[in-house]
Amino acid sequence: MESTTTVSSSFHHFTLLLFLCFLHYQTSLVQSALPIEALPTKSGYLPVDPTSNSAIFYTFYEAQNSTSPLPETPLLIWLQGGPGCSSMIGNFLELGPYRVVDPQKPNTHQLPDLQRNPGSWNRIFGLVFLDNPVGVGFSIASKPDDIPRDQHSVAIHLFAAIKGFLELDPVFKNRPLYITGESYAGKYVPAIGYHILNKNKNFPVSEQVNLKGVAIGNGITDPVTQVQTHAANAYYSGLINERQKGQLEEVQRKAVRLIEMGKWTEATETRNEVFHMLSNFTGLATLFDYTKKEPYKTYLVINLLQSNDVKKGLGANESTVFDDCSDVVEAALHGDVMKSVKYIVELLVKESKVLLYQGLYDLRDSAVSVEAWVKTMKWDGIERFLMAERKIWKVEGELAGYVQKGGSLSHAVVLGAGHLVPADQSVNSQAMIENWVLETGVFADKQVT
Ligand SMILES: *[C@@H]1O[C@H](CO)[C@@H](O)[C@H](O)[C@H]1NC(C)=O
Ligand SMILES: *[C@@H]1O[C@H](CO)[C@@H](O)[C@H](O)[C@H]1NC(C)=O
Ligand SMILES: *[C@@H]1O[C@H](CO)[C@@H](O)[C@H](O)[C@H]1NC(C)=O
Repeated sequence: MESTTTVSSSFHHFTLLLFLCFLHYQTSLVQSALPIEALPTKSGYLPVDPTSNSAIFYTFYEAQNSTSPLPETPLLIWLQGGPGCSSMIGNFLELGPYRVVDPQKPNTHQLPDLQRNPGSWNRIFGLVFLDNPVGVGFSIASKPDDIPRDQHSVAIHLFAAIKGFLELDPVFKNRPLYITGESYAGKYVPAIGYHILNKNKNFPVSEQVNLKGVAIGNGITDPVTQVQTHAANAYYSGLINERQKGQLEEVQRKAVRLIEMGKWTEATETRNEVFHMLSNFTGLATLFDYTKKEPYKTYLVINLLQSNDVKKGLGANESTVFDDCSDVVEAALHGDVMKSVKYIVELLVKESKVLLYQGLYDLRDSAVSVEAWVKTMKWDGIERFLMAERKIWKVEGELAGYVQKGGSLSHAVVLGAGHLVPADQSVNSQAMIENWVLETGVFADKQVT
């Protein structure tokens, strides 16, 4: 062998270097157990009240392919429902850039696989997920009393968090802002939307929050109307018989009476009883989608977010034990569930635009239940909305659903989807939100020919 000491020594240096590179590679793999695009552009905690340490956790994903300069690129805020569920469900199971799927083969790190989402809502818009209210997901409730018990308190915290977010970077400040969310966010979205409009009245335009619209997916907004629709909806879908319909109607009427008496907790429990009966009669795997053989796989999100490496990658406090939904927060808002915010939507729709969309297969917060309250809205534009054409909506030539738009109010029914619309119809939901924001396609006021 011709090897000399010099060669050998540099060889050793080389292997050492390789080894160090390998170590570095390992560490960066660990630090980003998430694909680079699944890592937020920015994330962390937003204080909600200067007198406490409670804070709302957020993840922000900048637009992937913005079609306008960033300071003019719309920002969407996403709020999960529950009450008490984490917007990380939205982030990692529904509309974020990457989504969890069952591991293809057993892997050593025991994490679900992540797959690129072709229908991510941050294609041309910035997207912010807020764990709302404090106590949910990675958000911090520094003491139990900090957890809101009504929509006004929810809105005050959200306003502080949103203001805090917009001040993080000058590029955020004046971007057109849209508040979106699902399910119980049918209460949160109107509450924060209207709170912003009210606050804006005290500030010069340059200091206002540039709210442009709100969107609610499969929302609970006017419970007293919505709770009365389950029996008929299931019956006319062929899921229950007439006798079962009668039994459900009896419990629904009880819920209405309790609401009228202001017995909010009992009213919430009675609504739950309607769902228990409906589950029992139908034997469905989930009322969130009557076509599904198993519930939505939120456990995959839990598996992902209980990993310390993932928490580190997201900038979340590693000592927080992640759960998809918080029982404590749900309990705090138990008495709020059956309170209507329809009157807030009536105020909002005058000053901002509103989109209500529902996946057709949902039996909890169904399209039927939303139509039932919308047609009772007290608003100058309601006749125009109700008389507007219900358009057949297609995405890339395929039937996607139906859209009705009258003035500032739009309604969309999404085919092939249950309660979590972006989880079931990601590309169509992306087309929907983009067209609604930009007022193009089926949401254009004048059809482009
Ligand atoms: C963004 O644009 C590039 C270049 O046109 C394209 O390759 C890429 O697929 C686009 N990404 C998304 C998310 O649309
Ligand atoms: C419905 O309730 C009855 C009586 O409690 C029970 O025997 C039955 O197994 C339940 N069915 C389902 C599908 O849960
Ligand atoms: C994380 O949470 C724990 C427990 O709530 C708290 O004591 C700690 O200060 C937090 N760490 C950071 C970095 O915020």
